[in-house]
Amino acid sequence: MRMLPVCLLLAVTILGAHALDNGLARTPPMGWLSWQRYRCNIDCKNQPDECISENLYKAQADRLVADGYRDAGYVYVNIDDCWPLRARDADGNLVPDPARFPSGMKALADYMHSKGLKLGIYSDMGSETCGGYPGSKFYMEQDAQTFADWGIDSLKLDGCYSTTDDFAIGYPTMAFFLNKTGRAILYSCSWPAYITGKQKIPPYKQIAQNCNLWRNYADIADSWSSVTGIMSWFGEDQGNLSRFAGPGNWNDPDMIIVGDYGLSYVQQRVQMAMWAIMAAPLYMSNDLRNIKPESRDLLLNKRVIAINQDPMGVQGNRLFKASNIEFWSRPLSGGSFAIAVVNYGDAGGPVRLEVTLENFGLDGTKFNVTEVFDNKFVGVFTLKDTMTLLINPTDVFFAVAKKL
Ligand SMILES: *[C@@H]1O[C@H](CO)[C@@H](O)[C@H](O)[C@H]1NC(C)=O
Ligand SMILES: *[C@@H]1O[C@H](CO)[C@@H](O)[C@H](O)[C@H]1NC(C)=O
Ligand SMILES: *[C@@H]1O[C@H](CO)[C@@H](O)[C@H](O)[C@H]1NC(C)=O
Repeated sequence: MRMLPVCLLLAVTILGAHALDNGLARTPPMGWLSWQRYRCNIDCKNQPDECISENLYKAQADRLVADGYRDAGYVYVNIDDCWPLRARDADGNLVPDPARFPSGMKALADYMHSKGLKLGIYSDMGSETCGGYPGSKFYMEQDAQTFADWGIDSLKLDGCYSTTDDFAIGYPTMAFFLNKTGRAILYSCSWPAYITGKQKIPPYKQIAQNCNLWRNYADIADSWSSVTGIMSWFGEDQGNLSRFAGPGNWNDPDMIIVGDYGLSYVQQRVQMAMWAIMAAPLYMSNDLRNIKPESRDLLLNKRVIAINQDPMGVQGNRLFKASNIEFWSRPLSGGSFAIAVVNYGDAGGPVRLEVTLENFGLDGTKFNVTEVFDNKFVGVFTLKDTMTLLINPTDVFFAVAKKL
C-alpha cells in the first residue's frame, strides 16, 4: 500500500515537468462505454444480458467486430463503475466481482486483444467510486500496477469522494504511476467536470499535461435536452477550453447515445455532427445487439468519422448564435473546414436560411461544399456567395467545405 504523503512528494517532482507523453489518442479515441446505458446494474439474476459483467462486454465486443464498428475505428471497450467487490482483498488489491467476472480481468483483456480491441477500466481518485466501490486514494501505485498486469489499455479516473483541491495532486499522481508501469494506458480524467460545477475555470493547461482526455461537464443522459445542454455549454468555450485539444489531448463532452431511446433520427444526426466538430471522443453507450440500421449507419458514416478523426486535431467552435440557430465550424487538414448549422427550433417546419461561408469564419477564397451525411454536392462558393439552406426542426446542416 502506498500512502498519500509519498505520492505527494513524487507528484510534486513531476508536476509541470513535461507534457503527457504516452503516444496515445493522437486522434479522439473511439469505442464503447457501458455507463450511460447500463449504469450500475448488477442484477445479473434478473437481467443477465444487461448487468455489468464480462458477458456484457464480450457481447458488445462481438458486435463491434461483426458489424464493422471495430474496422471503422471503435476499438475501446470500456468498463465503468461497479465492477469490483465492495472491499479490497487482504493485500489491498481490487478484486473483480467473481460472480460477474468469473474469468477475471486478465482473461477479459486477452479476449479483447484477440479480437483487435482494447479494454478500458474505471476507478476513482477519491476514497470510493461514485457507486460506493473502493477508490484509488492511497492505492494509486498498486492500482496502476494491477491494471497494467491485467493488460488494461485505458483508465477513466472519476472524482467522487474527493475534493477539487486534491485533484491537482491526485490526477497527476495517477498519471505518474500509470507511466511507471511501462504500459501505455490511455488516461481519462474527470478532473474539470467537478470544477465547472462550481462555476470555476479548471486548470486546463495542467490537465492537458497529465490526461489524454477529460470530462468537462455534466454526465450525458438519454435525452435531447441533455445533448443540447452539453452543446450549449461547449459553445460558450469557457476558459478557451477548445484550445487545449490536439493530438494526445481531448475535451470530452461524454458518450454517444445514438441507437438508444431518447433521440429522434435527426437528433442523432445532430449529436454525431457536433461531436465530430468538437473533436470529441466517440464512446458509444448503447446496445449494439439491438440497434436500428439507420443508427448503425450513422455511427459508421465514414465521412462523419473522418471529420472527427482529422489528424490536425483542432477542436471546432461556435461562431454565431441567434434564437434557435447556431453556426459552428472546425478547421480540417489541408485548409478545408467542417461547418454545421444547428436548428434547435421545434415549432413548425424547416427553417430557411441564407448564409455565406464568411459566417463560419472560413479562411480562403473558394470552397467545394458537400453535405456530410448523404455526401450530396451543395455547390462551389466563394466566401461571400449566398448559400440557401433548409434545416428541419432539431436537425443540422452538416457539410465539408473543401478548399479549392
Ligand atoms: C512515460 O513518460 C515518458 C516521459 O514523458 C515517456 O517518454 C514514456 O513514453 C512514457 N511511458 C509510458 C508507458 O507512458
Ligand atoms: C480566452 O481568449 C480570449 C481571446 O484571446 C482572451 O481574451 C481571454 O482572456 C481568454 N480567457 C481565458 C480564461 O484564458
Ligand atoms: C466538387 O465536389 C464534387 C463532389 O462532391 C465534384 O463532383 C466536383 O467536381 C467538385 N468541383 C470542383 C470544382 O472541384
